[in-house]
Amino acid sequence: MTNQEIIQKLNREHTLDSKEWEQIVETYSKEDLDYAMELARKTAIAEFGKMIYFRGIIEFSNICKNDCYYCGIRKSNKACSRYRLDFDDILACCAEGYENGFRTFVLQGGEDGWFDDARMCWIVRSIKETYPDCAVTLSLGERSFASYKALKEAGADRYLLRHETADAAHYRMLHPEYQKLEIRMQCLKDLKALGYQTGCGIMIGTPGQTPETLAKDMKFMEAFQPEMIGVGPFIPHKDTPFRGEKRGSVALTLLVLALCRIMLPKVLLPSTTALGTAETDGRKQGILAGCNVVMPNLSPMSVRKKYMLYDEKAGTDITAAEGITLLKQQMKEIGYEVVVGRGDFGKEKEDD
Ligand code: 5AD
Repeated sequence: MTNQEIIQKLNREHTLDSKEWEQIVETYSKEDLDYAMELARKTAIAEFGKMIYFRGIIEFSNICKNDCYYCGIRKSNKACSRYRLDFDDILACCAEGYENGFRTFVLQGGEDGWFDDARMCWIVRSIKETYPDCAVTLSLGERSFASYKALKEAGADRYLLRHETADAAHYRMLHPEYQKLEIRMQCLKDLKALGYQTGCGIMIGTPGQTPETLAKDMKFMEAFQPEMIGVGPFIPHKDTPFRGEKRGSVALTLLVLALCRIMLPKVLLPSTTALGTAETDGRKQGILAGCNVVMPNLSPMSVRKKYMLYDEKAGTDITAAEGITLLKQQMKEIGYEVVVGRGDFGKEKEDD
């Protein structure tokens, strides 16, 4: 089959076999990419119209017990200046976000033991009480089933936990031995079982990634049926073991995003900050590849530069209000509109 025939098959059947996945990510041409993006864009428009949801990310702690080789806030990075926001700071971010139209708050942090279940549940409950019309998304890494359950009961709606790679040997190349792919996968299953809208995802171009590992990622996502998928290019960070590695390809990132959209038409698919960092108009390109979500930064300006997962991260110099103005303008330039609303999976017609 030609690559375009493979893309058509995906559009019809929403599944490919491993060899087909490998072929498309390995041999795609510029024309194939354009073709996939066009089909993905049509799919997104059929599901959501030309409407883009926006979520505010609050990066509340950069303290992390993990040591992922790619990540700038890994435990071993002594050059990283650590911080933790207090409850009032977090609620102030939500207040500013709410005023600017945000109806989803994403609490993202390193795996910081200080934020135990009692503290995290208190934060989630406070946000939900203050803003009952808002969704809370958590991105706190690996926790126990009991912990995910308590957070769900406190009111959390969604959870983002990228699987990073579905191939165990590749996972081992990206993480120290004690961080296990099985644990990551168990967490994802637990989250889904608990009724979270669950997000997994990968970086494009991490060391050791191959067409085979990417095919495994696509097969995994096909089976897992996530409500959200995060995909962005790998960008090296100067104080990590991967400092000398190459950046991931923007074209391949766009292809994978487009294929995710075609495979899972309803999935919530953000045009990521990493994509916006790798290329000036990266976020717009992402939308044109079928993304329907953008996640501007709501963290206090004072900590933005400390939450550096990779070098030159975009959006660390502008306020929440400026971020949303810029976003509206960028979306308008390509004929899209940002909408105020929670933007839940499968409920697009219920938003205002
Ligand atoms: N480049 C791109 N993305 C990164 N992430 C972490 N480090 C990097 C990097 N150097 C992504 C990971 C993680 C998410 C929060 O950020 O996929 O899951």
